[in-house]
Amino acid sequence: MEERGVDENILKVEGVHTFIGQHHILQGVSFDAKADAVTVLIGRNGAGKSTALKSVIGLLPSSKGRIIYKGKEIQDKKPYEIARMGIGFVPENMGIFAELTVEENMRVAMLVEDDTTARRLERTLEMFADLRKFWKAKAGNLSGGQKQMLAIARAIVNDTSLLLIDEPSKGLAPIIVDAVIEAINQIKEHSVVVLVEQNFYMASSVGDYFFILDDGMVVHSGDVEELIQNEELQSRYLGISKVED
Ligand SMILES: Nc1ncnc2c1ncn2[C@@H]1O[C@H](COP(=O)(O)OP(=O)(O)O)[C@@H](O)[C@H]1O
Ligand SMILES: [Mg+2]
Repeated sequence: MEERGVDENILKVEGVHTFIGQHHILQGVSFDAKADAVTVLIGRNGAGKSTALKSVIGLLPSSKGRIIYKGKEIQDKKPYEIARMGIGFVPENMGIFAELTVEENMRVAMLVEDDTTARRLERTLEMFADLRKFWKAKAGNLSGGQKQMLAIARAIVNDTSLLLIDEPSKGLAPIIVDAVIEAINQIKEHSVVVLVEQNFYMASSVGDYFFILDDGMVVHSGDVEELIQNEELQSRYLGISKVED
């Protein structure tokens, strides 16, 4: 394995190709995530956003290209190895267990149960007070917003330096989207965040840099400021849902 100097990019995805069965889904995707920033991947349904995140964490092995995390190539590593290296993942379907309690969901998620993790759990429950309130309740009985909070909590309770979150605003009421935005703004204090989002309000509220995926390729990238100015990009790739207020 090639060892490289750590630069400002904690994650570099270089020319990654990923197949699902016979289907050539990612066709040479490149993007990076800068330290101390939130990077947003946007693009229409079916563009390959979820596939890109799953490729990074090794759930969908890539057939070509390199994925470099903290200077190390990880494209051949297993998901559990990648998780232990400090990459957290919140999947689109949230990945929580409806039949388990909030507490059990948290315990299942913890890679190690030590004092440091206990302190992180405490910090996480301070951020998401409802999770403490419903600690003994079945996760299946939580509201949509609370489930998303639990899904995020399960990732950040571990020692993550990079957190990948797939469409956290999906199906949530605007007021709950605001709560998720607030949570991400807190999380970015101690973790680099890569966010998949279709919601322009969410993307522009938390994002610093953006990459647009279309048909398995990156077709545009830049500062989120540029995306905010460029209404043509927004309407072409985001099916814009701007909040009018
Ligand atoms: N399990 C699967 N089997 C076959 N095709 C899939 C599967 N999952 C995703 N795809 C296809 O891969 C493409 C990219 O999907 P995905 O990464 O989920 O897109 P996005 O997250 O941008 O909506 C789509 O065309 C989708 O139909
Ligand atoms: Mg998706």
